[in-house]
Amino acid sequence: STLSPFTFVLFGATGDLAKRKLLPAFFNLYHNGKLPPSFAVIGVARRKLDDESFRAALEEAVRAHARYQVHDINWRDFARHFYYCSVDVTQLADFERLYQRVRELEESGIGTGNRMFYLAMAPERFGETAHRLQAAGFTQTKGWKRLIIEKPFGEDYGSAQRLNEEVTQVFREEEIFRIDHYLGKEMVQNIEVIRFANSLFEPLWNNRCIANVQITSSETVGVEERAAYYDKAGALRDMFQNHMLQMVTMIAMEPPSRLMTEAIRDEKVKVLQSLRPYGRAEVRQHIVRGQYGEGEIQGKAVPAYRDEPNVAPGSRTETFIAARLYIDNFRWAGVPFYVRTGKRMAAKATEIVIQFRDMPRHLYFNQDGTLGPNLLVIRVQPQEGMYLQFNVKRPGTEGGVIPVAMEFSHSGSESPEAYERLLHDALRGDSTFFTRWDEVALAWKFVDPIAEAFANDPDLPLATYRAGSWGPEAAEALTAADGFRWWPIGADAPVADA
Ligand code: BG6
Repeated sequence: STLSPFTFVLFGATGDLAKRKLLPAFFNLYHNGKLPPSFAVIGVARRKLDDESFRAALEEAVRAHARYQVHDINWRDFARHFYYCSVDVTQLADFERLYQRVRELEESGIGTGNRMFYLAMAPERFGETAHRLQAAGFTQTKGWKRLIIEKPFGEDYGSAQRLNEEVTQVFREEEIFRIDHYLGKEMVQNIEVIRFANSLFEPLWNNRCIANVQITSSETVGVEERAAYYDKAGALRDMFQNHMLQMVTMIAMEPPSRLMTEAIRDEKVKVLQSLRPYGRAEVRQHIVRGQYGEGEIQGKAVPAYRDEPNVAPGSRTETFIAARLYIDNFRWAGVPFYVRTGKRMAAKATEIVIQFRDMPRHLYFNQDGTLGPNLLVIRVQPQEGMYLQFNVKRPGTEGGVIPVAMEFSHSGSESPEAYERLLHDALRGDSTFFTRWDEVALAWKFVDPIAEAFANDPDLPLATYRAGSWGPEAAEALTAADGFRWWPIGADAPVADA
């Protein structure tokens, strides 16, 4: 491992994210020899636990959610790196106690004062927590100090800005790692490589050759136990402002001058600056919102959003959004980017479809009298890979043309989890796949007027869609209006059969 020793203070250590993602990620990294011999993770939460019971919870989390088996490694050797400290984040005295703990560990030879703080907790507490870390002495150190913050980073531009001011009083921008876990996904990281390591695609990557881009992230889950948060956020703030716009920037950015973190982020920022801003009129024209009604998921009846626990009766929160976006720059002028995401849809899948322009004249046709366009499909999940769809002669003597695919696919299980990659990056100090403040700010500035229209425009419809479907009809109309259609996602690539 090339990582230097560190102490890692994990706020929210008894929470869902820690259990499902973060603790298993430590295990996976450890299993693969990616962690240094000397490190400590101090779990922090309100609950009173001792080190032993935290290690038991760790084991349970690892058994349920890690990529490898507990018995693959010497469990005790792994678990001895984990500690627990009960902290009420409103109490400075608790932070002082926590600081003593960290100092003791450091003095016992762990770390060289490198300190990572991970805030997997209520976002209202981010600012004051950063300040109490400082007040307790944590930020005075010979080593590095870094802060990882979970989303949501604000709920609009104003609140994001206030939050940012608070944390930047304690940590410098280069020390702040804002998580967008989609940037930790293998195939999202691969977008840059596919684009900038192949001479094949880049010459075609523009409005002369591309007819439209479709980015879908569909989920089958509903609101689950998160209504208290989700009913206020909706799909716009929960998925679109961050994950979806981040994927747009990765597809649309210019090649960076060098593969340097800031050069890459600069290019992503330029995409956000070029997004055509939408006011009420444009929202009505280019954005469809929906909310799931009752329906079926994998043959099982599920309730409507409004009947879910803790959702406000008559809630008008959107659980689906589809948008037609324009990036008004030389490369993309006139190319619609269709982006959609929703809960309780027909499949769990994230895919990006690049549709190339039609031939200037059709000499050949499929059996149905059309000719399918060339597609480049980037499959982010659940399958990871991509395929290029093109037309070939129908085998045999009948004539005609059929679509086939050249496909690349990852074996799957060996590919690290997003959080595993991101934790490792942050520990290395590489913030390429984290969002810089100006990206977050621009994304909110784009989203705020849309949120305003959602909240206040009486003429903006909220369509109901059946749980288990691909979303409201109006989303189909969005592409159809331009002579396009959403390509099916989550399906197998076409294969030629004679
Ligand atoms: C989170 C959202 O950021 O992403 C959730 O808050 C959503 O609502 C999740 O379910 C989806 O992530 P993934 O990795 O399962 O596609």
